Amino acid sequence: MKVLTVFGTRPEAIKMAPLVKVLHDSPAVEQKVCSTGQHREMLEPIMSFFDIEADFNLDIMQPGQDLTDITSRILLGMRGVLQEFQPDWVLVHGDTTTALAATLAAFYAGVKVGHVEAGLRTGSLYAPFPEEANRLLVDRLASAYFAPTQRNADNLLREGVASSRILITGNTVVDALLWATEKVKGFSEQVPSGIQTAFENNARVLLVTGHRRENFGKGFRQICAALRTLAGRFPDLNIVYPVHLNPQVQKPVLEYLSDLPNILLAAPMEYPDFVFAMKSSGLILTDSGGIQEEAPSLGKPVLVMRDTTERPEALEAGAVQLVGADEDRIVAAVENWWTDKPLVMAANPYGDGQSSSRISDYLLNNG
Ligand code: UD1
Ligand code: UDP
Repeated sequence: MKVLTVFGTRPEAIKMAPLVKVLHDSPAVEQKVCSTGQHREMLEPIMSFFDIEADFNLDIMQPGQDLTDITSRILLGMRGVLQEFQPDWVLVHGDTTTALAATLAAFYAGVKVGHVEAGLRTGSLYAPFPEEANRLLVDRLASAYFAPTQRNADNLLREGVASSRILITGNTVVDALLWATEKVKGFSEQVPSGIQTAFENNARVLLVTGHRRENFGKGFRQICAALRTLAGRFPDLNIVYPVHLNPQVQKPVLEYLSDLPNILLAAPMEYPDFVFAMKSSGLILTDSGGIQEEAPSLGKPVLVMRDTTERPEALEAGAVQLVGADEDRIVAAVENWWTDKPLVMAANPYGDGQSSSRISDYLLNNG
């Protein structure tokens, strides 16, 4: 069986890496890996950490790219890759524009698509934007659906997908996290010493990430205002913020937050360093999807800077709270944690670390 595994951004690479390894070890599978290169600097260290090389690299990233740039460049690039490799399956992940464009290219070429992390829904087409639309469109065109949870499978069944095409797998992010935590003993030398110091002596650390398109502009100004207020109100709180490379994020964050002693801005961290940072922090404030899944797996509470989530499982388990990109709500929620130290959740709703093997077995049995 010939399988083309496609990814292009940081979270897709992390979540596809364990599957790439399992398929690589299967004698019945000839796998090739295609990176669209939607991300560049943020992708390369992940591939090297997981020891994965791309057989094809479309290398499409441009500074400040828009959705049309990404989609059209991937469609054009994938055409040649599909013609050359002639796969039986194309595997895509999640909700990025890489996932959508690769799916469309495979559909045009008459190649079956397996959707890893299928069936997540917020129910609101514009939140997150464009990811909710990407998920829906990929799921209209796919042939096999690897749903992390029962709820994700139920969403697909409600939309008319045949149950025989759906497999509940757990989320491959848990496979990746378990693999990484085996290897992570502390920060690497690449993490600036100032950041490392922020975690020492049992300091209480608020770890922050943010990059959602729908938060650009007003949302990021509110997020930055909240962090300034918190830094001023709680001088013993260390706020550590590895800043996404998107210029729409870099600009407001560096402009508003560079001058405070207890806000430590950093370059995006390599995955093992970020896993160690999550493990060592007290609270995580983020708009990321993947971190909503990793943090409960590490027993860490998360405040999500969004109004809705496609991952309600952790919300129901009490590990995640939605605070929007809203200054007052963010400040109140962090203050509550600072004063009350809320409990962390024990169970992880997202999987047992065997998701990749389940996906590989399904492909071999349904080739
Ligand atoms: C993309 C995904 C989003 C995912 C996120 C993970 C889409 C539409 N968005 O958003 O779903 O949650 O990745 O991070 O697919 N840049 C660099 N170097 C890098 C990566 C990005 O310089 O390694 C800068 C570039 O200027 C680039 C910009 O960031 O143009 C935006 O990258 P893009 O992939 O378009 O959007 P993200 O916000 O990263
Ligand atoms: N991550 C990382 N370094 C960082 C910030 C995040 O390795 O500095 C990891 C994080 O552990 C998670 C993934 O990147 O696995 C999340 O990526 P991102 O927030 O870019 O995308 P999303 O999850 O929102 O799609």
